[in-house]
Amino acid sequence: MNKILILGASGFIGNAIYKELHSYFDTYGTYYSSRRSFENNQQFFRYDLEEDDVHDILDKVKPDLIISALRGNFQAQVMAHQHMVEYIQNKDCKLYFISSANVFDAYSKYPSYENDKTLSESIYGRLKIKIENMLLRIPASKMAILRVPMVFGNNSPRIKEIKNALISNEPIEVFPNLIINVTNDDKLTQQIHYLINHNKTGVFHLGSVDLIHHEDFIKEIVNRLGNNRPIYKRVFTTNEDRYLAVLPKSNRLSKNLSFNYQEIIDHHIFSE
Ligand SMILES: NC(=O)c1ccc[n+]([C@@H]2O[C@H](COP(=O)([O-])OP(=O)(O)OC[C@H]3O[C@@H](n4cnc5c(N)ncnc54)[C@H](OP(=O)(O)O)[C@@H]3O)[C@@H](O)[C@H]2O)c1
Repeated sequence: MNKILILGASGFIGNAIYKELHSYFDTYGTYYSSRRSFENNQQFFRYDLEEDDVHDILDKVKPDLIISALRGNFQAQVMAHQHMVEYIQNKDCKLYFISSANVFDAYSKYPSYENDKTLSESIYGRLKIKIENMLLRIPASKMAILRVPMVFGNNSPRIKEIKNALISNEPIEVFPNLIINVTNDDKLTQQIHYLINHNKTGVFHLGSVDLIHHEDFIKEIVNRLGNNRPIYKRVFTTNEDRYLAVLPKSNRLSKNLSFNYQEIIDHHIFSE
């Protein structure tokens, strides 16, 4: 495994993966609107999933592994992944797809495990399920579905939003009924690096091994960020507790790569 192509390498997760991998592998990436930072970088290609055929980039790069970390128009995402699936079936190439805990958002009473049946009430969750199902129809040795909970970290859009709210005295949304597991960019990219090194394929749940209420988690992070006077907006979506969590069971990674939510909290500092 030498050549890796990351689709969405200018984004939060895609760029974190690029930074983790590029000194070990011949790593390429795509960007869409973030021209300035990437257009002079020979490893990066501009790619618009609504206009361009992903085949053109695949033919240019000839990757051994494609990592898909895209956002964008849902129809166009489905089409692009259809093309990727066609490509990898005829080539010595695998596809790792960044999916989401939302593939289980219709089940609220329990956390979810790798082999549970997916079901979603959201259009985002249904998009992820549609792409997952395309991958589940090809040989398992060709693909990995990486289901990821909410991703935090100092540079994450989620934490930046909290920091901005603290600065401008705006309310921070918390979901008191929501029970989640979590990750950050560092943990996620280390786990993906491990999966690549060990040539792993199949379905993986890449989040903390324990659970916490969203409200408690956000409040602990805000405490970490220092001396603030936060304003919280408590959003109740249901009367009862609801789970949105992807826990590992049948496809565990090595022990030193598993982590608790507390490690994700401890990572946060105020850097303004
Ligand atoms: N962040 C989370 O908490 C989280 C949790 C679970 C799963 N995920 C999944 O992880 C993946 C990456 O998420 P992210 O948070 O890193 O998102 P992000 O920061 O918004 O990055 C999205 C990437 O997609 C590219 N893109 C957007 N529109 C495009 C288009 N029309 N054509 C081609 N490329 C386009 C962006 O390029 P430009 O920036 O250059 O425009 C960027 O590289 C997504 O599939 C998301 O569903 C994220």
